Order: sequence, then C-alpha cells, then structure tokens
Amino acid sequence: MHSAEGVLRTLAAEVENEDSHTTAHTDRVALVARHLARLLRLRPEDQEVAWRGGKMHDIGKLGIPHTILEKRGPLAADEWAVIRQHPLIGENMVRPLKTAGTLLPIIRHHHERWDGTGYPDGLKGEQIPLLARIVATCDAYDSMVTDRPYRPGRPLSTALAILKSGKGSQWDPHLVEMLIQEVPSLAELWAA
Ligand SMILES: [Fe+2]
Repeated sequence: MHSAEGVLRTLAAEVENEDSHTTAHTDRVALVARHLARLLRLRPEDQEVAWRGGKMHDIGKLGIPHTILEKRGPLAADEWAVIRQHPLIGENMVRPLKTAGTLLPIIRHHHERWDGTGYPDGLKGEQIPLLARIVATCDAYDSMVTDRPYRPGRPLSTALAILKSGKGSQWDPHLVEMLIQEVPSLAELWAA
C-alpha cells in the first residue's frame, strides 16, 4: 500500500543523509508526532497521518541544492529565500499522490510560527493545522538534539531551554509543554 508514498519516504530520508542502521531523524520526528497525537486523543487515522507527515514534511528539500542545505555558517538572504521554498516544493511533489491529501497541510505549514511570522502563509495560532504544529514542534526538538553533518547536536538542557523560550512565539505553547513532559519517555519509543 502507498507504494509511491513509500518511495518518497525513502527519498525524504535521503534529504537528511540518514542511513538505515540508526534511528534516523525522520523516524524520530514521525514517532514523537504520532505519540503526541495519541496523547491528544486524535482519531487513529490522524495519529497515522502525524506519523506519515513526520516522515515526509521536508520532502521538498529534495528540490534545494545540497550546497545550501549543508552550508556551514550563516546563510545569505538569497539562500534563505531558496530554503523557504521547500514547503511549497514538497506540497507540489506530493500533491499528485492519491493517498497524500492529508499530508499536504503538514508539508505546507510546518514552518508557520504560532505568532504568525512563519512561512509560507504567515498563519497564526490555531489557524495553523494542528498536525503541522505537532510536526513543527517535534522536528525542532529532534533537530536540536541531533548531530548534523555540519554541526553537533545541542545538549538536552539547551534544547529544552530553546523550546521554552519559543513557547507561544514560535511553537504552540500547549504542545511544547506536552513534549517537554514526554522527553524522559521518548527513548522507549525508539526501542518499541
Ligand atoms: Fe522543513
């Protein structure tokens, strides 16, 4: 089932330079997103969409040059402008898939910010689809604590401090609180 989506999922992992021997970034984002969706008592089908969206949200980065994605040091304004296209590129890539309609809001809106200053549409607060808010929070957390080719992961205490400081500005405050509460039990998710 979802075979075309499966191919895209593999490509999405490629974006993150993930190898199959570790629990990879997109896997962790997907698992934590589904976990929060479950805690929120969303419908089982929406919990599954949270997982699939966690895997696929950055698929549009396939359309961004590696030189920009993996650049060490700060990006220039024109490079940021290119990066900011990835939600729209991803939406266009996935739209033709019959099974992927529910993923489109996650892919398009995972860089909106709670205060309305995100992209691409500047949606604010609960205007941002809930599953996109969930994936955004989980993605931010996992990106912070994970080593990247171009930088080491941050200490957990730093990541949690950044999440708290962005609560209600960058991210949904309720979801940040939930995620912080769940951090001690996340290792069980990877092991399951
Ligand atoms: Fe992204």
